[in-house]
Amino acid sequence: MKKLLTLLFILNIIFPGANGIFVPANSPDRKQTMNSPQDILIPVGTKNTDLIFRVNGSDGRLYQAYFGMKLANTENLMGSGGQDHLAYATFGTDNLFEPAVRMTHNDGNPSLDLVYLSNNVEKLSDNVIVTNILLKDPVYAIEVTLHFKSYIAEDVIEQWVEIVQKETNPVTLFNYASSMMHFDADKYWLTQFHGDWAEEMKIQESELTSGIKILDTKLGTRAHMYQTPVFFLSLNNKSDENTGELIAGTLGWSGNFRFLFEVDEKGSLRVISGINPFASEYSVQPGKTFKTPSFIFTYSNHGKGLASRNLHHWAENYGIMDGNKPRLTLLNNWETTYFDFNEKKLTSLLDDTKKMGLDLFLLDDGWFANKYPRNDDRAGLGDWQENKAKLPDGLGYLVKEADSRGVKFGIWIEPEMVNPKSELYENHPDWILKLPNRQETYFRNQLVLDLTNPKVQEFVYNIVDGMLTRFPGIGFIKWDCNRMMTSAYSVYLKDKQSNLYVDYVNSLYNILDRLRKKYPHFPIMLCSGGGGRVDYGALRYFTEFWPSDDTDPLERVYIQWGYSFFFPSFAVCNHVTSWGKQSLKFKTDVAMMGKMGYDIPVNELSEKELKFSQEAIANYKRLCDVIWHGDLYRLISPYDENRAVLMYVNSSKSKAVLFSYTLNSRYNQTFNPVKMQGLDPLKTYTIKEINTVPGGRQSQIAETERSYTGEYLMKIGLNIGNGTPLTSNVLEITE
Ligand code: GLA
Repeated sequence: MKKLLTLLFILNIIFPGANGIFVPANSPDRKQTMNSPQDILIPVGTKNTDLIFRVNGSDGRLYQAYFGMKLANTENLMGSGGQDHLAYATFGTDNLFEPAVRMTHNDGNPSLDLVYLSNNVEKLSDNVIVTNILLKDPVYAIEVTLHFKSYIAEDVIEQWVEIVQKETNPVTLFNYASSMMHFDADKYWLTQFHGDWAEEMKIQESELTSGIKILDTKLGTRAHMYQTPVFFLSLNNKSDENTGELIAGTLGWSGNFRFLFEVDEKGSLRVISGINPFASEYSVQPGKTFKTPSFIFTYSNHGKGLASRNLHHWAENYGIMDGNKPRLTLLNNWETTYFDFNEKKLTSLLDDTKKMGLDLFLLDDGWFANKYPRNDDRAGLGDWQENKAKLPDGLGYLVKEADSRGVKFGIWIEPEMVNPKSELYENHPDWILKLPNRQETYFRNQLVLDLTNPKVQEFVYNIVDGMLTRFPGIGFIKWDCNRMMTSAYSVYLKDKQSNLYVDYVNSLYNILDRLRKKYPHFPIMLCSGGGGRVDYGALRYFTEFWPSDDTDPLERVYIQWGYSFFFPSFAVCNHVTSWGKQSLKFKTDVAMMGKMGYDIPVNELSEKELKFSQEAIANYKRLCDVIWHGDLYRLISPYDENRAVLMYVNSSKSKAVLFSYTLNSRYNQTFNPVKMQGLDPLKTYTIKEINTVPGGRQSQIAETERSYTGEYLMKIGLNIGNGTPLTSNVLEITE
């Protein structure tokens, strides 16, 4: 009863003044009974924004009527505006531009028409509301539901679509977007994040011109190697950190994605986001539903900084597995040993983990396979048994040794892949994606397993489940994925090859769903030859991700800066390594701005360096809550100056941590004072530089020991950094 009353209450809010009867558009009486057509408004709101749809009473179609800052009054949206802006434009009838959805019916009719049928609202919690809008083809048995999940406090909306086909035979979907949005601005500025292996998340911004601009990937697996599925779209003018009107959008999908931006002849822009339909016409069986992944977006009229903070808070509370739980600091052995290790070496690394004060030792690639031992990347992938030569006493021994030192033990796997030189390949050639009648094509000497095959799903599930059952002491997994699809063909999918890209990802999610049911809080790092798979579809299952194999801290400042726009710091794994010639301090300070770890030969550290590292780790553990969950303010961009400065501020504004990196220096270089943000102007703060090196040149903050008002720090600022390239400062700011 209570539920019913709540629903009636919500419906009343949704249809203010909609007291006329709206006859469902598919009703046979529709034309006769709509003498006095009445529009219906369907708001999808968050705390500060409104996305409002309007059902046009005369044609029964659904239009986007408004998207932007919250409106005090929506009455004027009835019967006006947004006439052309179909909420989910179809192909084949009268739509002249790129459609959100296109399909062919059983009789060969290539058109779809969608009219409004009904809508409802589900309140999942005080903060999360789902609005469902049901559309239907008046002639064909196709139903399309647009779902909007509003995260009220975070100002984030997640949209996905379900297409239900009730025809007699399979239908083919050619386009199936997650979202279609419309904008009417004078100019549009698109910010994209491009790259490659070891150079992820390079920022580019350009003005959209008439016609179509597409950001997409066709790589299948390791799909985001050249481009992460994220963008900013600024309206009218370019936006910066604190000013400008924009949306930040990202697709929760670990496979091929596409963002399409089309500026029409009137200067209106439609943005279509979803799975890349390229080579992916999808056959849907009768009675089945095709569900798209989520497009996740936030609107800001205070620049990119606010948009990032909205997404960070959403990710913390909803988007990333256990986003508000602590993370483990770790020592990894990849760059220290590569494939060359034995029990003795590993136990000494366990000692080092303990000595440094880290939580976990992560054993990387190379621990498995016997017939074709994994001594380099040419063999063994797929044979997940401990290599007897390297680990005669098995993983159990290492888990025990770790335990006896009070550190956790973690392990690397790459369960979706296989080397041709492996027993798995010999025993199950039909489990592998490869073209008949053509040569196999390799990338990193490996092939992709056919996850669409349920037997392969079972195999992959058992790699993890088997290991965690045998060794319940394992406390962490790094799940890697080191190649994209080429020459891919699934024996299992037979004549449905164009379902492959979509089914692969959904099969991966099935496996992860199953694993998460059994191991709901187990920490797993998402990795894909660096940042080849970073998206909120996968991060529902993972606690963190490996952003790049490039651990040179100078490069990392840019790479981590890029990720920070869309992903929260606690999920971005940064390791102090031997890559790059910078000082240990610089490396440490760069790693500290996210989820810190190490991958260095600890035994080669001098006494001073060891002490510095131990103190830095202790500092990190003391401050990680602010770094992980505080509000991020990017103060000075490395794209604008020869330095990068950012800070995190906790929610009560009583504690902040500031990171400043001098990257380069020109003759007579001077830097202006850094004006902080996010503090309370009325509070008084003390500033303490941490991670200091005795006798080092790190501290030129004359004011170090003094106290300042928040107002002073934000309006006048402090001189931080000394202009020497590749130096850094970390400030602890305390009320
Ligand atoms: C990928 C990962 C690395 C490492 C290697 C192991 O390249 O990104 O961190 O795990 O695989 O082969």
